[in-house]
Parts: sequence; C-alpha cells; structure tokens
Amino acid sequence: MEMLIAANWKMHKTAAEAVAFCERIKVAEGRLTGVEVLLCAPFTALAAAGKALEGSTVKLGAQNMFWEEKGAFTGEIAPLMLQEFGTEYVILGHSERRRIMGEDDAMVRRKLETALRNRLKPILCVGETEAEQERGETDAVLERQVSAALKGLDPAAVAGLVVAYEPVWAIGTGKAASPADAAAAAEVIKSAAARCVGAAAVETMRVLYGGSVTPANIGSFVALPQIHGALVGGASLEADSFINLIIAAREAVS
Ligand code: 13P
Repeated sequence: MEMLIAANWKMHKTAAEAVAFCERIKVAEGRLTGVEVLLCAPFTALAAAGKALEGSTVKLGAQNMFWEEKGAFTGEIAPLMLQEFGTEYVILGHSERRRIMGEDDAMVRRKLETALRNRLKPILCVGETEAEQERGETDAVLERQVSAALKGLDPAAVAGLVVAYEPVWAIGTGKAASPADAAAAAEVIKSAAARCVGAAAVETMRVLYGGSVTPANIGSFVALPQIHGALVGGASLEADSFINLIIAAREAVS
C-alpha cells in the first residue's frame, strides 16, 4: 500500500503563499517518488494551488466540506465546489472541527457519505482527548467514532478509505503518541471498521498517524506495519520541513 503523507495547513496560507509552497515542492518532486503527497489547503487557496499543481503528482485536498450538494446553507462549501479545482481528498471530522465548531459523530457521518457519493476521498479523523485517555477510554472513543462513521456503509464504497488517528492531546503540543500506542490505536480502528464494513474492505484501508509529527519522528511511525502515513500540521507549513519529512518517511520504509 502506498504511503500517504498529507499536509493539513489548517487556517494558514493565503492563495499566494500556497502557490509559493507548491512551486517549492514541485522542484523537489523527483526526490519524493513512491510516496503519495497531499496538500490540504484552505478553501480560499484551492483554486490557486490546484492550478499551481497542474502536471504534478502532488495532490490537493480540502479540510472540510458540507453534507449537502447544494442549497440554502450560508457559508458552507459543497463537494462539487471542491472538485472544480482538482481537489481529490477531503479531511472530515478533524478534532478542531469537532471540538471548536461542534461537529458531532452524526454530522461527520453525513459528510463522509456525501464525500463518497461525490467521489471525493475522505480522510476520516478520529482520536481521544487527554481526559478520555486518562480515563482509559481511548479504545471506546475510537470504536464509537469509527462505527458512527462507517456502520452500514456499502463496503465497496469505503474501499481505499483513509482514517487518521489523531489523539487530541498530541496535536500541536510537541508531545506525539508513542509509536506503540499509535500502532495499538490503528489496530482498534481497523477492528472497529471491520465490524462495520467487513474485513475485506478494511484490507485496503490506510491508517495515518497525526499529532506533532516532525521530520525527526516520522520514521518511527511509518516503519510500523499498522501505520501507512501521516497527517501533518505544524511541520507541513514550511516547504523545506515538509520535504525533509517526506524524505525521512521514504527512507524509513526503504
Ligand atoms: P500538528 O502536526 O501541528 O500537531 O497537527 C496535527 C494535525 O492536527 C493534523 O491534522
């Protein structure tokens, strides 16, 4: 399974800054082969980034999407609006959206179904908070989030799904999960997914790790058979840092 290294720029980068980043990564592309590289840009930078990435193997993603295709939903963005710019992936259920914007499991489920129906590739984010981890609820939280998203879906529709394990306490804190804990969480995610859509569909599922990933620690995650890449926040903002991270990931698995 090809490794996926995805940048989540969050609320960073104007369109001009996104283009400058794309130009830098295109120059380095020859050194990044064998890895699927994805840039999840803010909505306002998608058009410019999509144009800048034309002819490149680097892919474009969005960070959110609404669950309806069109209608009176002021301020929301529909799948077709993303696809117009060559957007292939969409992050759904990121913990910042769950925590700050009040997205719940049911909303994430609706978004996931809409993305799949519109042939956008979702990156479903799951992960426990610090309090949940302290109470020993990690597995239960992951199981709840995965089943809410996947239960009853057509196994064929979820083939190739990407799930990102992002413990909330590890995001932006410099305190990454241990590789062993990330591997254990990935196993829990896959078992929960298998109960929803069957073991065969899960064979093509990739689980990413996210939370304080850096060029220095990426190797310890992607070397694990359970982890197929990373969702990177802070270390994806500077082109050099992100390129070094991808190269380190490649070296760890070669
Ligand atoms: P950091 O890499 O900044 O911890 O962010 C992780 C994240 O939330 C990616 O979606």
